[in-house]
Formats: sequence, structure tokens, C-alpha cells
Amino acid sequence: MNNIDWSNLPFDYYKTDYNIRCHFREGKWGELEVSSSEYLNLHMAATALHYGQEAFEGMKAFRGKNGDIRIFRWEENFKRMERSARGIFMEPVPKEIFREAIFKAVKLNERWLPPYGTGAALYIRPLLIGSGAEIGVKPTDEYLFVVFVTPVGPYFKEGFNPIKIAIVRDSDRTAPLGTGMFKVGGNYAASLPGIKKSKSEGYTQPLYLDAKEKKYIDEIGAANFFGIKNNTYITPDSSSVLPSITNKSIMEMVPDLGLKVEKRPVPVEELDSFEEVGACGTAAIIAPIGEIKDLNEGHTYTYSKDGKPGPVSTKIYKKLLAIQYGEEEDTYGWVESLE
Ligand code: PLP
Ligand code: COI
Repeated sequence: MNNIDWSNLPFDYYKTDYNIRCHFREGKWGELEVSSSEYLNLHMAATALHYGQEAFEGMKAFRGKNGDIRIFRWEENFKRMERSARGIFMEPVPKEIFREAIFKAVKLNERWLPPYGTGAALYIRPLLIGSGAEIGVKPTDEYLFVVFVTPVGPYFKEGFNPIKIAIVRDSDRTAPLGTGMFKVGGNYAASLPGIKKSKSEGYTQPLYLDAKEKKYIDEIGAANFFGIKNNTYITPDSSSVLPSITNKSIMEMVPDLGLKVEKRPVPVEELDSFEEVGACGTAAIIAPIGEIKDLNEGHTYTYSKDGKPGPVSTKIYKKLLAIQYGEEEDTYGWVESLE
């Protein structure tokens, strides 16, 4: 067996045993293939390599308290990948192929599923790429769908402890009518200047404002933003934010914790009035934010005075994890278990 320190797992790529592949050629999807190679044999003129015809997803499988394997809301990831594919004119993956590929990838790599109680999970990464050769800028007619898995801990080394975020105003991850609402590789390339800038100033992630007016909050690196005040969970409504499945789940769940929900444009100045703020996403889970510095304007917003996460973020975090790990009944029907 492997001798991984599961409880201290970083969010890094870790080789597992098998991945799943499926080709779209001559107008149809082929059979699922199981591979133990980490490499793809790709045409050098594939549109994914030149023109960014690429979309991906990220979801997690958890080892439940009673020993089952629990996949969280895969259908939502399937729907988002379908939207991403259509958004950049790729062939969407049929639902049955998506489901079979992710379940197979998890099952075949079960020995890499972190044990219950370690706080780690098996991250599932589906990938859809334009594999056909083109030299003109146009959608190709061959696609490759790949699913691999890798065991991960939380995205931020701080775990569930307050992180520091920097507002970056001199680069944008997306444009108002761009591809920000899709999970496509180009957005992540465009987010690197902001990530680099925030890191070089000693901050964990950049906070992006709306690209047009720089007035409203969009999102945080690879996670959505939320703020808490007056017993209300508030999260930005913006056409250039990735619709997070974690955020959607929190919005559905917090009324049961007695909170109201508001999804609306959030002006930057409102940062002054939040009692708690945080980032949420599959990789990020829920990351409380202790400080936000506006790098260009110089203003600093502080939240955590004692270095601890706020009480509301803590309640949300605990409930989400309890559902994911099967410690609490999944009354929302979010988890599908594999034997
Ligand atoms: N925003 C961006 C840009 C992301 O890459 C992610 C990660 O998927 C999220 C938000 C969070 O989305 P989800 O909760 O579906 O993982
Ligand atoms: C996820 O949360 O699943 C993500 O995709 C984040 C990733 C870009 C690191």
C-alpha cells in the first residue's frame, strides 16, 4: 500500500494507477478506454494546443464515515462542462459517458482515496480537448475526453484558517462578455498575472473586480466570494464569475442554518461592512478571509481579529463537510455513493 501522509496532503498532482479516455471522431463518441499512461499522444496542430479549445472540471470523491465512496454533485459538474463545451464550440460529452468515466476512474483508483478522518479527498479532473488538427482559427471536429484522479488536501495550505487576499486592478481574468462563466483553460492563463502579483506581495490569492468598471467584486482566484452580515449570506451576481457548485450548495443549505441569501452585485466598498468574508470552491472548500488589501488603492479591510475563522463561516464549513463525509444525513440528495 502507499505510505502517504493523508492528513497533510497538499493540493498537488499525485500519480494514481489509471485514467479513462474517450474519443469523438467521425461524428461519434467511441468506447471508454482505461489507460495507465500519464501521457496523451496528441497531434501537434490540435486546437487545444494553439487556440485553447479546452474545458475541465473539478469534483471530489470522499471516503464516508461508514466506509462508502461518496461523489459530490457530479451532475452539476456534468452540466457545467456541457455549458463550457458549447461556450467554445466543442462537442459536449454525453451524460452517460461522463458518469461512467468518473465512476470508473474513482473505482479503479480506490486505493488512492484518502481514508475517512484525514480531511483529504480524491479530486476528479475531467478534461475535454480539441484534438483535431487545424491551422485556421475554427472549432475542430475531433475531441478527447479524459478523466484522471489525484488525492488532495485543501487548496490553501492554511486549511480552515484565515487567508490574506489582494485586490488586483492591473490585470483581468476575463472580460464582461468573455468566457469567465465557463471553466476553460484560457481563463486560468489570464488569471496568472493576478496570482503572481498577489503572491509577490505576500497574499494567498487575487480578488478580481468586474473588468468593465472595477466597481464590483467578481471572484477570488479559483473560488467564489461570499460575505456575511446581518444574518445574510451575500455572494456576487456577475456574468463573468464561474458558477461555483460549492457556492450553489451553500446557498441552498444556509436557509437551514437560519441565514438569508442574497445573490447580487457586491460593490467593493461593501467590504467595509461585512462581519465575515470567505472564498468557496471544490478545491478551496471554504476558506475564511482574514484580510483583504487593495494593492493599487492601498486600503486594507480586516476581518479576523483573533486569527480564527468567524462563527458563521465555521457553521457552514462544518455542515458542508458533514454532508460530504456522510456524518450527517444528506437531505439535499447531493451525494451519490459507490459500493
Ligand atoms: N471560480 C473559479 C474560477 C474556479 O476555478 C472554481 C473551481 O472550480 C470555482 C470558482 C469554484 O467552483 P466549484 O465550487 O464548482 O468548484
Ligand atoms: C476546483 O475547485 O475544482 C478548481 O478547479 C480549482 C482549480 C483550478 C485549482
